[in-house]
Amino acid sequence: MTRIAITGASGQYGRIVAQALIDQGRARDLILMSRTPDKLADMAAQGCEARYGDYDHPASMVAALAGAERLLLISGTRVGARVAQHEAAVDAARAAGVGHVVYTSFIGIDDPANPAEVRHDHIETERLIRASGLNFTFLRDAHYADAMIVMAGPGVMASRQWISNAGEGREAMVWREDCALCAVAVLAGEGHAGQTYDITGPELQTFAEVTALMAEVTGVPLEYVPVSDEQQYAMFDAMRIPRRPVDDQHVSGIPWNSDDMVSFGRAIREGFLEIRSGDVQRLLGRPPRSVRQMIAENVEMLCGAAA
Ligand SMILES: NC(=O)c1ccc[n+]([C@@H]2O[C@H](COP(=O)([O-])OP(=O)(O)OC[C@H]3O[C@@H](n4cnc5c(N)ncnc54)[C@H](OP(=O)(O)O)[C@@H]3O)[C@@H](O)[C@H]2O)c1
Repeated sequence: MTRIAITGASGQYGRIVAQALIDQGRARDLILMSRTPDKLADMAAQGCEARYGDYDHPASMVAALAGAERLLLISGTRVGARVAQHEAAVDAARAAGVGHVVYTSFIGIDDPANPAEVRHDHIETERLIRASGLNFTFLRDAHYADAMIVMAGPGVMASRQWISNAGEGREAMVWREDCALCAVAVLAGEGHAGQTYDITGPELQTFAEVTALMAEVTGVPLEYVPVSDEQQYAMFDAMRIPRRPVDDQHVSGIPWNSDDMVSFGRAIREGFLEIRSGDVQRLLGRPPRSVRQMIAENVEMLCGAAA
């Protein structure tokens, strides 16, 4: 069987992919990479191979990918400064003889006017992968609904306010799990080489609409408060969130930097993320799950945060 390597396998996205492939009987085909392979002990116990690999130590990546035919390159967490890390992974894939790279990219990156900080990391990584001559599939994920409902949601519920510089811009937020299951479909399937998929949710919505949905489902009155980029920066500065990426550091429960988040809000506001596609339906044979469903699944946690 085709051996599949997964970077970021200890993370939330990687774990969903690995477990789904294990459930398909593919444990022995999996090579799972982490800077701390002990984190993958539960997966190793199910028959996967856990290997040490660090984007910042390119030689470790070549060793980690030995024997792999397909690679799921899950984009790193150093948002705004990941290209060198991804380049090391792509070079290692070529050196190790990997045939096909599946990369987790981002929607709306073709337009150079898109101000989202993440755009540069992803468009450059896609360019490097194309230039490598390896077969590729790009999974351009929309904004994870999990980021706004599960991570930011408790703060919204506690303060009764959803504060954002995204204005009245629309996006089709998607479940991280649906994104990961699309990766599984590509890794375990055929005919995806050279394809770029937009992995989006089912509906274009403003944050004002999502705030109203959250209020309706939880029964707690909530207000959407649009702010300027400067006000959004001031809010994150007050929370001591760094402007630039800091590895492995969660500040006030948030793992991202404010240049990333403010530029992301601006990209939504200016319409660069107003993209909805049928690719999840095509890859999974069912529609993507909705933001309403995610709020409903987390209603107890959200109401607890409001109490
Ligand atoms: N579309 C969106 O809205 C959105 C939102 C959030 C994130 N994302 C993207 O999706 C990716 C996956 O998200 P997630 O929720 O699974 O993240 P996560 O749970 O924070 O996991 C991050 C993973 O990255 C690995 N990693 C970090 N630095 C590394 C390094 N130097 N070398 C090798 N591996 C490294 C970690 O592995 P170890 O610590 O075990 O080494 C971990 O497995 C993120 O990295 C980001 O690019 C997209």
